[in-house]
Amino acid sequence: MSSGDSFYITTPIFYPSDVPHIGHGYTEVAADVLARWHRQAGDDTWLLTGTDEHGQKMLRTAAAGGMTPGEWADRLVAESWIPLLKTLDIANDDFIRTTQPRHESGVQAFVSKLHDDGYIYTGEYEGYYCVGCEEYKQQSELVEGTGPFEGQLVCAIHSKPVELLQERNYFFRMSDFQEKLLALYEARPDFVQPESARNEVVSFVKQGLADLSISRSSFDWGIPIPWDSDHILYVWFDALLNYATAVGYGVDEKNFERRWPGVQLVGKDILRFHAVIWPAMLMAAGLEVPKHVFAHGWLLVGGEKMSKSKLTGIAPEQITDVFGSDAFRYYFMRAITFGQDGSFSWEDLSARYQAELANGFGNLASRVTAMITRYCDGVVPAEALPTDADLVVRRTVEKAVADSDAAIERFAIHEAIAAVWTIVDELNGYITEQEPWVLAKNPANRDRLSTVLYTAAEGLRALAVLLSPVIPKATAKLWTSLGAEQSVGALADQRLREAGRWGVLPAGSTVTKLEALFPRIEQEVEDAAAPTPAA
Ligand code: ME8
Ligand code: MG
Repeated sequence: MSSGDSFYITTPIFYPSDVPHIGHGYTEVAADVLARWHRQAGDDTWLLTGTDEHGQKMLRTAAAGGMTPGEWADRLVAESWIPLLKTLDIANDDFIRTTQPRHESGVQAFVSKLHDDGYIYTGEYEGYYCVGCEEYKQQSELVEGTGPFEGQLVCAIHSKPVELLQERNYFFRMSDFQEKLLALYEARPDFVQPESARNEVVSFVKQGLADLSISRSSFDWGIPIPWDSDHILYVWFDALLNYATAVGYGVDEKNFERRWPGVQLVGKDILRFHAVIWPAMLMAAGLEVPKHVFAHGWLLVGGEKMSKSKLTGIAPEQITDVFGSDAFRYYFMRAITFGQDGSFSWEDLSARYQAELANGFGNLASRVTAMITRYCDGVVPAEALPTDADLVVRRTVEKAVADSDAAIERFAIHEAIAAVWTIVDELNGYITEQEPWVLAKNPANRDRLSTVLYTAAEGLRALAVLLSPVIPKATAKLWTSLGAEQSVGALADQRLREAGRWGVLPAGSTVTKLEALFPRIEQEVEDAAAPTPAA
C-alpha cells in the first residue's frame, strides 16, 4: 500500500446490555493497532467503534434492571463502554450509537431505497429466534436443553431457550444474491479472512440462501420502518448500517466517498452477518462491499468462549490495573495468532510481561540511555566508520520494517510484532558482544564506543516508531528520553514505512533519564487479579 491511501476500519458495535470484558477489549485493541499502524504510515485513516442499542436483548435487560432501554444504554455507554476506550488507550476517531439521529435517518433512507427498488416484500415468518444472538434460527442450529431448560430447544451458543415466532414481516430478497456472493468470494479470495472463515462462508452460501425477515412488530424498541410505523427494523439490519451512516451515507457524499469502502473487523461469532447479509445489503443498494471482512478468533476460558451471558467475563481493568494498558495491548496481539482462538492465562501474561516487555525491550531501552548518560554526558555521540556488526543492525531494522508492514497488510498482527522484535533481540545481542562498558575504559576506543552507542540509540529510534501502534505509552516515553522530540520532531509525524532509513536521530540529541518502562510487578498476580466474573 502506498503512503496516503485511505484506511477505514471498524469494530463491531457492541450491545451495551452489560459491561465489557476482555473479549471486547481484544477486538478494540486489534482494530486500534491496525489503525495506528496505518495512521503512523501516513494513510488517511479512520477508526470507528460504537454501540448497538436496539433489539429485544437490550429491551429485556433494561426492563430487568427497571429502566427503559434508552436509559439503560445511556448509563452503560457513559459508565463502561466509553471508559473502556481510555482503559485500553484506543485512539478511535468516532463512536456511533444506533440511537443517534444521524444513524436512524441514514438507516431509514437505506431501507426506503431498497423498498423502492423492489428488494423488500411482505411475508409471513414462522420459525425460531434467539434473543441472545438476535438471530433467526434453523432447527439444525438448536440443541436439547439441560438443567432448568430440559425438554426445551435451546440455542447452541447461548444454551437458553429460543422463541417460536409467527409474525407478518417485511422480507429482504437475500436469495437474489446467492450467485453474486459466490462470485465475489471467488473473484476476491481475500474478501473474507482468514481462509478458515472464507471456507465456512462459501460452504454456507452454497447450501442456499433464504430471504431474510427484516422487521418485527411485536415490540417497538427499534427504528420504525418508514412506510409502515407498525413495524421496526430487525436489529441486525439496523446495526450493520452503522458502518455506512457513521461516515455520512446519504448526507455527506464527499466524506462517504473518502472513507468507503472500509475493513470490517469482527469476532467469528458474527461472521455470517458480515460476510453474507452485509454484502448482500450493499449490493442491493448499489454500494461497494467492504475491502475485507476479517473474523478474529475467540478468547477462551476453560476451553469455552468467554462471554457475558455465561458469566465468564474478565474485566479489562483487572489486567490494566496491574500491568498497564501497553502490556494488555502487547500481550493479546503477540500471544494469539490473529484469526485463531486463544486461551488467556494470568501465568502466560505475567511471564511474557517479564521476559519480553521488562527484560527484553524495557531493559534494552534503559541500558542504552543510561550508557549514553554515563559515558557521553547524555549527548548522543556521532558514529564513526561502521563495522559488519553495525551494518547487521541496520539491515535487521530495514528488514523488520518491510516484514512487519507486509504482515499488517495480511492482518497478521502477531507476525508484525514478531518481525519488529527481531530488532530487540538483535540489539540485545549486539550490546552483549560489543561490550560498551569495556570500550569505555580505554580512551583509545572512543570512536568505537561512539559508534556502538549511536547504533543502539538509532535502533531504539526505529523501535519507538515501529512499536508505537502497539505500546503507545512506553514508546512516547522512550522518544522523549532519546531527545528525539526536540531533535527529530513529534513521534506521531515519523513515517512508519520509512523507519528503516538510517541516521535519523542526529548526533547531539540530549538523552534524559528513562524511568522503567515496564516496572517489576510486586503483587502476586493470582491474588491481585484473580479471574472473577465481570459483574
Ligand atoms: O454481536 N473473544 O455484539 P456483542 C473474542 N451487537 N472476542 C469476543 C469475545 C471473545 N470471547 N466475546 C465477544 C454483537 N467478543 C452485535 C454486533 S455489529 C454490526 C453488531 C467481541 O456485544 C467480538 O468482536 O455480542 C464479537 O464479535 C463481539 O465482541 C460481539 O459483541
Ligand atoms: Mg454476542
